[in-house]
Amino acid sequence: KKISIIGVPMDLGQRRRGVDMGPSAMRYANVVERLQALGYEVHDLGDIEIGRPNEFDVIDEDNLKDLKEVVNANQTLAEAVSKSVVNGSFPLVLGGDHSIAIGTLAGVAEHYKNLGVIWYDAHGDLNTGETSPSGNIHGMPLAVSLGIGHPYLTGLGGYAPKIRPENVVIIGARSLDDGEKELIQEKGIKVYTMHEIDRLGMTRVMEEAMEYVTKDTDGVHLSLDLDALDPHDAPGVGTPVLGGTSYRETHLAMEMLAEADIVTSAEFVEVNPILDDKNTTATVAVALMGSLFGEKLL
Ligand code: ARG
Ligand code: MN
Ligand code: MN
Ligand code: MN
Repeated sequence: KKISIIGVPMDLGQRRRGVDMGPSAMRYANVVERLQALGYEVHDLGDIEIGRPNEFDVIDEDNLKDLKEVVNANQTLAEAVSKSVVNGSFPLVLGGDHSIAIGTLAGVAEHYKNLGVIWYDAHGDLNTGETSPSGNIHGMPLAVSLGIGHPYLTGLGGYAPKIRPENVVIIGARSLDDGEKELIQEKGIKVYTMHEIDRLGMTRVMEEAMEYVTKDTDGVHLSLDLDALDPHDAPGVGTPVLGGTSYRETHLAMEMLAEADIVTSAEFVEVNPILDDKNTTATVAVALMGSLFGEKLL
């Protein structure tokens, strides 16, 4: 049982500085030791290099801020992730803003015929340059992975799309832009909003979601944005939205995934220690990873 940890100090997919320190914050919260204690052979591969946009190069093409740097870093990330899959090691990617899911999925999906995806997030991240209110690429990675968006992004890794809409489930949504709502309708994407979580409870939501993403798939990627959690439980995120999933509900979700043993790659993103309260959010992220990888009290 091997895990490859890949840090991605990316902060160019959004406008709030500090999320580039997410991987450090999670290492400080003992991610390596925590997973080693569960019996895994953990390889920390260090951080992916992120280019800095230079002052002559600040034109934001097609409402896509820092497109070039985001593409380049994701290319490097995709290669590192792909290598870890080839080596039989579970890729565990630490962010960084959510734009890095573009590279993670590019590196993972080429090894699967039909990859299932659990997108645990307050947001849909289903924007394109045309629909985005912000031009921030961290609001676009799910659309990009479905093959929708700028060709520099969708074509990353040399193939598109990475995933199919019928293999994706979004959990925890409570903030969607108009263009994202339209895309969800058009593609028939399965979404468990906070309403369904309140109504059905996390147990039932996870039972249904796991059945959904394992139907006709040969692997499952977990993309966990810490802003899915309520800001009271995970304050260190750049785009907090009130009314999220609790620490307990999210642990339960991770424990159910561990029990079902279906997750084949994962990323934990949007941890911003500068906006945080004494590294709470990185600590929560690492505790969730513990549950995802099988930690139990007894
Ligand atoms: N929907 C908003 C946007 O596109 C917010 C996206 C937040 N995404 C995230 N990964 N935190 O700008
Ligand atoms: Mn989010
Ligand atoms: Mn399916
Ligand atoms: Mn997100």
